[in-house]
Amino acid sequence: MSKMENVQRICANRGIIFPTAEIYSTISGFFDYGPVGTLLKRKLIEYWKEFFVKSEDNIFEIDGCVVLPEKVFIASGHLKSFVDPITQCKKCKSIHRADQLIEEKTKKFLEGKSIKELTETIRKNKIKCPRCGGELGEIRLFNLMLKTKISPVGGKTAYLRPETAQNIFTSFQRVFRSTRSKLPMGIAQVGRSFRNEISPRHFLIRIREFSQMEIEMFLDPEHPECPKFDEIKNKKIILFTRDAQKKGKKPISITVEEAVKKRILPNQWMAYFLTKEFEFFKSLGIPEEALRFRHMLPEETPHYSGGNFDLEIKFDFGWKEIVGNAYRTDYDLKKHMKLSGKDLKVLTDDGRKVIPHVVEPSFGVERPIAGILLHTFVEDKKRGWNWFNFPPKIAPYTVAVFPLVNKDGLPKKSKQIYRMLKKDFDVFYDESGSIGRRYARADEIGTPFSITIDYDSLDNDTCTIRNRDDTRQVRIKIKDLVQTIDKLIKNQVKFEKCGTLIK
Ligand code: GAP
Repeated sequence: MSKMENVQRICANRGIIFPTAEIYSTISGFFDYGPVGTLLKRKLIEYWKEFFVKSEDNIFEIDGCVVLPEKVFIASGHLKSFVDPITQCKKCKSIHRADQLIEEKTKKFLEGKSIKELTETIRKNKIKCPRCGGELGEIRLFNLMLKTKISPVGGKTAYLRPETAQNIFTSFQRVFRSTRSKLPMGIAQVGRSFRNEISPRHFLIRIREFSQMEIEMFLDPEHPECPKFDEIKNKKIILFTRDAQKKGKKPISITVEEAVKKRILPNQWMAYFLTKEFEFFKSLGIPEEALRFRHMLPEETPHYSGGNFDLEIKFDFGWKEIVGNAYRTDYDLKKHMKLSGKDLKVLTDDGRKVIPHVVEPSFGVERPIAGILLHTFVEDKKRGWNWFNFPPKIAPYTVAVFPLVNKDGLPKKSKQIYRMLKKDFDVFYDESGSIGRRYARADEIGTPFSITIDYDSLDNDTCTIRNRDDTRQVRIKIKDLVQTIDKLIKNQVKFEKCGTLIK
């Protein structure tokens, strides 16, 4: 079993993330979050908002609908271009994504190839149905959007959005005006997206219902400068250039200033977001060597994009896109202007009317979670149990509270402390089984700090805190708990300095 498969199994066993409606036979590509998973997801989203939205003066968050009218997707191009090639087995009738099937057999990268090229490759390589060995049928294009009808009889066709971005484009003018903004201005949105993926796979990596965290940064096309560029221009990122991909070379480490100068990156805003993303994922426990940006090849670049840079994380099944960074130019606003007949141009300070250009960092929620789960998972033979090394700021539960034994007033005192801490942190209380077993259970769901109430606690109002990462313990006054845990989360105090270390 691979490490990722083990993580998936543990997520199901511990009720963290598991297949939807699994009491019936499951449909692939749908997952539910249990209590621990829900907290992890919520904290990741909150941290993302803090890092990318609240830290900026000119990015505003919206919350749009999931169901959007057909016209939106005619304009955006999704109705025509958001398609994957599929082939059906003539014998067992199973359906497969043709390009992936060929890639698996030939190890050649084929995304974006024409139907004719794919058909020829299938015939030439004598590729058969992976399920039954039967002959594969004609390749056809399949649109990935989930369709619905609005109103009970003969209603209008609508779609579940395949990206949150389209609400941002359709609301652009209202947000720009109501916030009295000037360019550059960003709109952020976190919400669900839906894609009728043909072959969902690799746990949370390719699913049919997922969440996205997206920003559309609207720029003056004649002044695409980023005011904060000087702050980040000397930072280095790992970039897998088109040239390196074609020549089979390694990714390069390059300052973002150089990457803009050499015209590898299209503008300063792209550089700004890539730099922040690199920092963001490192702060979430993904090691630098498992991170890179890949400049997408022309044939795989989406229909709307003037250049895409995928942030990829290394998994045990290979590198996978976690964030799509696209230079969408004025593609979307122009298309929406044309079909709606509305003028979406805005006025610049010097009196020009422009259609803004857009740089889009588009994060999924589930793929980052998969990366975090994999890279923070510790297979710990010495301790005797496996655990997650989540950074405290996104750990589902920050604190666990235990009475040392289940008698003599210790549970009562422990519950008082549990209720006190609950006002500020995500906390759980556990009194069942041995104290060692309870530490193990706290580690297994990645809880950074465990508090134990013992007999001394009844005498002198102190308790112990155990540090998940190295199992060291300190004794500390109960009245100082809230402040100390807060400092520990923010990394403002070293664990061994926050109380009296127990040797
Ligand atoms: N608005 C641009 C856009 O949606 P994308 O590269 O198709 O770009 C952005 O998707 C991110 O959304 C991906 O990097 C990934 O994290 C997430 N995502 C896309 N399809 C997904 C799927 N089927 N399952 C899980 N996450 C997905």
